[in-house]
Amino acid sequence: MSAASTAFHVHRAAQSKIESVDWNNLPFGKIFTDHMFVMEYANGAWQQGEIIPFGPIDMHPAMSAIHYGQSIFEGMKAYRNEKNDVVLFRPELNAHRFAESAARMCMPAVPEDIFIEAVKQLVAVDQAWVTNNPGYALYIRPFMFATDEFVGIKPSDTYKFVIINSPVGAYYAEPVRVKIEEHYTRAAIGGVGRAKAAGNYGASLYPAKLAQQEGYHQLVWTDAKTHSFIEESGTMNIMFVINDTLITPSEDADTILRGTTKRTVIEVAHKMGIPVEERAVAVEEIITAAKNGTLQEVFGAGTAATIAQIALIGYRDEKLELPALESRTISNRIKQYLDDIKAGKLPDTDNWILKVC
Ligand code: COI
Repeated sequence: MSAASTAFHVHRAAQSKIESVDWNNLPFGKIFTDHMFVMEYANGAWQQGEIIPFGPIDMHPAMSAIHYGQSIFEGMKAYRNEKNDVVLFRPELNAHRFAESAARMCMPAVPEDIFIEAVKQLVAVDQAWVTNNPGYALYIRPFMFATDEFVGIKPSDTYKFVIINSPVGAYYAEPVRVKIEEHYTRAAIGGVGRAKAAGNYGASLYPAKLAQQEGYHQLVWTDAKTHSFIEESGTMNIMFVINDTLITPSEDADTILRGTTKRTVIEVAHKMGIPVEERAVAVEEIITAAKNGTLQEVFGAGTAATIAQIALIGYRDEKLELPALESRTISNRIKQYLDDIKAGKLPDTDNWILKVC
């Protein structure tokens, strides 16, 4: 199938739900647009995809995804810019990461051009759902899961690739309080930490719940072997500023998700002449810097949260308050730059923006 010639068939919803949406009060990920994209994999090939009314998916009780977890997803956003265009931000990175996640989970890749075409055409059909309210966007959730009706363990022969869209506001309502986790593990070397596999998120819930009971929002994950190096925070990549240098755990270990937002933050920092270090980041280095006042900024980077400021780090029995948000010039400048690119206020010199309609 060639994406260039793929105009997916659209079965329109009989009635739009858009009138019922309270645009000033959008809980993250609970409201969905009128349509979804569905494409099946069978007989060794992707079949013709289509856009259909949003609704439940039929499921056989032996469907292999729910037994053995062959299930991956992506997170992307569409924005409405100042010219009233609906745009995507670096969708090719998501298409590529989705194919990499599929390979790791022994699933067939969705060709990257078809992935992008499907996202574009679905967003175009539901373009009325993309608001230009500052801080709001259309969150796009592509996902794929195994559909064989078989309780034996083997890679499924059939899959479903689906895309749903949800208008959203901020993911975190306030600056985030995180706790450095020294017992539970998100990912080990050789595992699936680099993949956006559904099970990674399921496995994080119990340790995160324990931290929430202590008043934190999320965990800072550390390496599985020694728990002395920082990896990610919650569902985001984590970034620090010490001595005016942006520091973030390197992606060399296959335990860390290759974040689109993180990559973009690094590229913007380079443009702005901000020194960047991608390297191993020891817990001890961060705690020492927090205590001696050289830790200037800490934030999470992810599609859902974009740049989420971290207000407090918990480490063992200590709670370390981090610098005031107004003083965080590096992350605030980078966030403003990204917002301006997405809103079309700055020229898109790097071709990060893909116009949908
Ligand atoms: C994203 O940033 O898109 C994520 O993956 C977070 C999600 C689990 C809400």
